[in-house]
Amino acid sequence: MKAVVCKKYGPPDVLELREVQKPIPGDKEILIKVHAATVTRGDVILRKLHPLLAVLLSVFGVKKMKIPGVEFAGDVEEIGKDVTQFKVGDKVFGTTTGLRFGANAEYVCVPEKSKQGVLGLMPANATYAEAAALPVGGMTALYILENADLQAGDKVLVYGASGSVGTFAVQIAKQVYDAAITGICSTRNLELVRSIGADQVIDYTEQDIHEDGITYDVVFDAVGKLTASEAKTLLSENGSFLTVKKPTRETLENLSALKSLFEAGKLKPVIDRSFLLEEIVEAHRYVETGRKRGNVVVPVTERGGL
Ligand SMILES: NC(=O)c1ccc[n+]([C@@H]2O[C@H](COP(=O)([O-])OP(=O)(O)OC[C@H]3O[C@@H](n4cnc5c(N)ncnc54)[C@H](OP(=O)(O)O)[C@@H]3O)[C@@H](O)[C@H]2O)c1
Repeated sequence: MKAVVCKKYGPPDVLELREVQKPIPGDKEILIKVHAATVTRGDVILRKLHPLLAVLLSVFGVKKMKIPGVEFAGDVEEIGKDVTQFKVGDKVFGTTTGLRFGANAEYVCVPEKSKQGVLGLMPANATYAEAAALPVGGMTALYILENADLQAGDKVLVYGASGSVGTFAVQIAKQVYDAAITGICSTRNLELVRSIGADQVIDYTEQDIHEDGITYDVVFDAVGKLTASEAKTLLSENGSFLTVKKPTRETLENLSALKSLFEAGKLKPVIDRSFLLEEIVEAHRYVETGRKRGNVVVPVTERGGL
């Protein structure tokens, strides 16, 4: 099969599209024909990991990633003899978190029950590209927001509202919690952030967000650029500061919540650009700029296209 291989840690051109052996599922594993995958900020971080950090992580059992690509959507092609919850032909989506062989490939093999990653049936009305773009940003935003004790009408500031986590945070805070959202982004993203449900938008290139003196019940830093002391000046008396810098967990409950929200028309991943497997180096270069809008998709087959 064709797969992107990460030869060593380093810049985008350490990635190479190669012919590698198609994986064979073990008894508790599922082989998936990938139709669409993505390139996330996490993929970029893992690809350029400092070698010393990689050594440190290996002490804790984290092995070097061989094939990148955490998110995927595709069809179950084969199942191991002990698999009970999926069958051949199921349309599935999920993540390869914690595994060495990711989804920037024609096939990916995942355990039915993973220690860190998740696998579920795709939303019935989603394309493969949409389903692939849901899990990481969507579960991150859900996990962080569910720890905030949000009430209807609460004022929520989403800082970095145009990125993957940011676009999901705006939609979830609005649709699930009925909060009043202010999104912060640059000029070119104002319309996008408004279109996904922000009640107010602030252009951080034109306005100092601290100058109007408005305070919020929740400040959600979705790009990891606000310090706690900066956030404090934006918070009301008992307000909470939420940030993507804190670790989160992927859960089957949250994957299933994303499926339900998508099926109910309450959540849609923002898809910025798509790159073929052959264009993986360019895709990583683009995501590494830190300027993508929502998510970047990798269609692996024609059916995985936008
Ligand atoms: N904790 C977790 O489990 C977890 C999970 C996923 C991601 N993350 C982390 O969360 C962060 C965001 O990930 P992501 O994939 O959502 O990012 P992303 O999509 O790459 O974010 C890009 C967006 O950020 C905006 N942006 C860049 N600088 C900004 C600034 N100074 N102020 C406001 N907006 C700015 C850009 O808009 P403009 O071009 O308009 O500025 C762009 O739309 C990353 O650090 C990632 O590692 C954490």
